[in-house]
Amino acid sequence: LNNGLALTPQMGWNSWNFFACDINETVIRETADALVSTGLADLGYNYVNIDDCWSYVKRGNKDQLLPDPKTFPSGIKSLADYVHSKGLKLGIYSDAGAFTCQVRPGSLRHESDDAALFASWGVDYLKYDNCYNLGIKPKERYPPMRDALNSTGRKIFYSLCEWGEDDPALWAGKVGNSWRTTGDIEDTWKSMTDIADKNNKWASYAGPGGWNDPDMLEVGNGGMTLSEYRAHFSIWALMKAPLLIGCDVRNMTSETMEILSNKEVIQVNQDSLGIQGRKVLSQGKGGCREVWAGPLSGKRLAVTLWNRCSETVNITMRLPDVGLDGSYAYSVRDLWKHETLSGNAVGTFGAQVGVHECKMYIFTPAVSVSSI
Ligand code: GLA
Repeated sequence: LNNGLALTPQMGWNSWNFFACDINETVIRETADALVSTGLADLGYNYVNIDDCWSYVKRGNKDQLLPDPKTFPSGIKSLADYVHSKGLKLGIYSDAGAFTCQVRPGSLRHESDDAALFASWGVDYLKYDNCYNLGIKPKERYPPMRDALNSTGRKIFYSLCEWGEDDPALWAGKVGNSWRTTGDIEDTWKSMTDIADKNNKWASYAGPGGWNDPDMLEVGNGGMTLSEYRAHFSIWALMKAPLLIGCDVRNMTSETMEILSNKEVIQVNQDSLGIQGRKVLSQGKGGCREVWAGPLSGKRLAVTLWNRCSETVNITMRLPDVGLDGSYAYSVRDLWKHETLSGNAVGTFGAQVGVHECKMYIFTPAVSVSSI
């Protein structure tokens, strides 16, 4: 969507994956504090997004949305002021249907009033869900909220959460700043890998202004191994997915923090070219030795070797097979070890990769092979 936002994929935090409906204004304030004190805010995680369950179960007597008085007694405006005072942005949630998924009021047919209310509160981001949609197609239900947000005059990031219904990559580029390509992620290896594959299909439709959204991060929530979480983060970064943290950032382990704060991986996600990386090779039994790659600015290429087999394997590739120029020798930077490998890669490259692990590199052209 051409509204000046989302020139790179959005980064921040969202309440749903960890807290679900168990949210309140204290959690949101403390999360904003933690994003700043941990240094995550400085790394680019700037949206603090409240998901479902912030609103009261009924509209007010002027038909307006009301914050739940038990859990958000100070109201959303004061929360937005607080979040802004920390240099962060506030996101909120509603639904393109009669109700939200947790049966709070939806915004279908209330688009203008609700958008104006969000803008008056100082909201910076809207996630717009798909429950209780009365069988109306997303293509009809999502544009009215785009227009309503646009007429508020406030810049509000518009995140479509239509679960991939009606292949949004084909039409949502003119509607939203990101669109979900799949159903909800679960904190399991199977869910994460299935979603990566589904999202991969739409790679060519992503770009500055509008991104494929394979759903929020589960890193730190406990259902996967550390290798699997590193792979999840690597592949989401490479796919130019939104990097929305989904754990409790007030209580992260140092391993979780190490993953989420990997600056070199974040830079791949936030690269100015904005080209979604994709699966370029799958080798071996059932194709479980995978290579994913995507171009970066400065003639560089981000490459991940992803072991989806159940034992440690070697993954080897010929440079031209992943989009590199065979007439160059490349300098190779390992983004998880934070070191540049000794010696340039010429012709082929490979590494041993642990079970479910992802090795992630940036290849930079060093010298032309003919000059060696
Ligand atoms: C849907 C969305 C989720 C989350 C929940 C909240 O399932 O896809 O991301 O927002 O609703 O109820």
